[in-house]
Amino acid sequence: MVKRQPILHLDSSLRIGRGGVREVFQHPEDPGRCVKIVHDPRRWRSVNRECRYLRRYHRQGKPFTRMTRFFGWCPTNLGPGALFTLVRDHDGHCSRSLASSLPGAPADSCRRQLQPLAIVELLSELHQHLLRHRIIVSDPALHNLVVHYPEPAKARLVIIDGIGNSSFIKMADWFGYWARRDINRKWRRYIEVSPLLQGVFAAAGRTTMNRG
Ligand SMILES: Nc1ncnc2c1ncn2[C@@H]1O[C@H](COP(=O)(O)OP(=O)(O)OP(=O)(O)O)[C@@H](O)[C@H]1O
Ligand SMILES: [Mg+2]
Repeated sequence: MVKRQPILHLDSSLRIGRGGVREVFQHPEDPGRCVKIVHDPRRWRSVNRECRYLRRYHRQGKPFTRMTRFFGWCPTNLGPGALFTLVRDHDGHCSRSLASSLPGAPADSCRRQLQPLAIVELLSELHQHLLRHRIIVSDPALHNLVVHYPEPAKARLVIIDGIGNSSFIKMADWFGYWARRDINRKWRRYIEVSPLLQGVFAAAGRTTMNRG
């Protein structure tokens, strides 16, 4: 007999954020997880793709220090909810997006601002990590990266959305050369030429990121 999962009750007091596709809530019973509810039904395909890749990468033993685990689906009062790791800092606060940690971001939208050189170093570390472990990303945009502080003086970037290969022909899933090429292509499009980062690169004395 299939065991029926209890329905999770989500309300605005649990709301963490909202993107173009999903609304994100703190899990009512588990502080280490969040529940994502799709509000744009046209994007189910990309949502399912991400879940599939996160499962596959977990099965393949890839490290989950820079991406969140997917724990499956559960019923909620708002519809099907996807369960993921909720990225929290050492003090228990939810980690904030890199977009909200850039110099010049509104003061109340972030708890800590990062210096340009620190941002470039964090991005470079993440880029190397993706290449080393062949983690394919579809849109590593600034709002899909959170700055995680596992310790007060230690930060790293974690991808909370957009893992997976969105290409029609998925050569990058099988061949290192194509994986590297696809990762670098997405990195260039979303990071290297991001208008939001040009000032950061200039202030850090770089014309662009170093390529891996
Ligand atoms: N695992 C997480 N840990 C901490 N915060 C998160 C997590 N997932 C999402 N968030 C917060 O919720 C916001 C929206 O989440 P998410 O990017 O998953 O939504 P989306 O609708 O899929 O985004 P997009 O508009 O990029 O398609 C994020 O920008 C982030 O601030
Ligand atoms: Mg997003």
